[in-house]
Amino acid sequence: MPDTLTITDNRTGKQYEVPIENDTIKAIDLRKIKVKDDDFGMMAYDPAFMNTASVKSKITYIDGDKGILRYRGYPIEQLAENSTSYLQVAYLLLHGELPNQQQREEWRANVKGHTFIHENVKKLMEGFRYDAHPMGMFISTLAALSTFYPEAKNIFDEATRKKQIYRMIGKVPTIAAFAYRHSKGLPYIYPDNDLTYAGNFLSMMFKMAEPTYKVNPVFERALTILFILHADHEQNCSTNTMRGIGSSHVDPYSACAGAAAALWGPLHGGANEAVLHMLDEIGSLNNVPAFIKAVKEGKGKLMGFGHRVYKNYDPRAKVIKKLADEVFAVTGKNPKLDIALELERIALEDEYFVKRKLYPNVDFYSGLIYQSMGFSMDFFPVLFAIPRTAGWLAHWQEHILDPDQKIARPRQIYLGPAERNWVPMDKRK
Ligand code: ACO
Repeated sequence: MPDTLTITDNRTGKQYEVPIENDTIKAIDLRKIKVKDDDFGMMAYDPAFMNTASVKSKITYIDGDKGILRYRGYPIEQLAENSTSYLQVAYLLLHGELPNQQQREEWRANVKGHTFIHENVKKLMEGFRYDAHPMGMFISTLAALSTFYPEAKNIFDEATRKKQIYRMIGKVPTIAAFAYRHSKGLPYIYPDNDLTYAGNFLSMMFKMAEPTYKVNPVFERALTILFILHADHEQNCSTNTMRGIGSSHVDPYSACAGAAAALWGPLHGGANEAVLHMLDEIGSLNNVPAFIKAVKEGKGKLMGFGHRVYKNYDPRAKVIKKLADEVFAVTGKNPKLDIALELERIALEDEYFVKRKLYPNVDFYSGLIYQSMGFSMDFFPVLFAIPRTAGWLAHWQEHILDPDQKIARPRQIYLGPAERNWVPMDKRK
């Protein structure tokens, strides 16, 4: 059987044969479908990319119906269980293979060699108002890095590209922690490169007068796993933004700032913050049924539920739910956990949610853990952006080196007025 699709245009009776590759047809092949020779040709209309593949990628695989997530072929559950460091997983995403011992040490040394930020970057951050949202500071500071490293624009030079990757992965925890310390009016804590990636971040966040910060091993492990779970998620909104901006061949700092901005929205990485606001609003177990009823009546959403791709339990949410018990054993149970569990119990039985295949996503439980560890709610999207930086960079690199890619530039269906003549002011209605 030929790997082709035969399309009959009932307007003209003409037939077209379009090649199929990977169960996909090329939208550009539709262009030959025309009524008149001088027509533009047929396009595919797909708002929100519901059924459009815009890239061929080898980085992350998701099967949303089965609840499968793999980075470079490795199941997320195995990565979360076995990886002692986030940096190993970042390496895997960027290089395609897990590092051997020597590669791991070199990689770690390269990233750790770039954890400090220029003192002028610190001054720039000091310029924000005392109550600036940490994600706004994070996004702006990432963008500002392009002015510190102008060579970053040489994106087709491999050595330059590598250097920016070390810099970005090394610096994002520092920028994030400085944003937090700024918003609390606390002195900035410089990186401690003897600590792990997660341990150093906790030190920059929470160290006070002690000469060496003692990292709580449960928090360090929890944060490492959370970082691993958030490191990549194929063509999500922020990664698509990274690729879209990167397709103009701008430097990676500018592209990353755009990706981080896309992440901030409540439908994406801002959802974990929104979940806790929702749990606060519900307030007590007694109010859960009324809240669910309101959601079903279209008065708001159950935040942390539903996903464009997962139509099954998000595998990351399963890992996080288990992790929550470990963290709560140290911190005491987050009082909102019972409300979350009850919401989940009802929603998983309720026809509205079952019919729409709405399950808890990664954000449903992550905020509860973050809050118990001492992170403020407005900081949650920043905690998402730190590890996702590796995923963004992996996709950016794949994108700019992909010979199939060009500047991202969708088409539109123009439905506005046809040509008309200028109307002088005194003739306007
Ligand atoms: N609560 C209640 N109903 C929902 C929810 C929800 N959380 N999510 C989807 N629905 C309903 C929709 O109203 C729609 O119902 P309808 O068919 O009667 O109109 C149906 O389920 C399908 O939903 P869509 O909005 O078409 O699904 P889409 O794929 O566009 O949206 C999204 C996915 C944005 C994640 C959505 O489920 C949502 O807004 N969830 C809440 C926010 C959230 O948790 N975001 C985090 C996502 S994970 C991440 O980015 C890390």
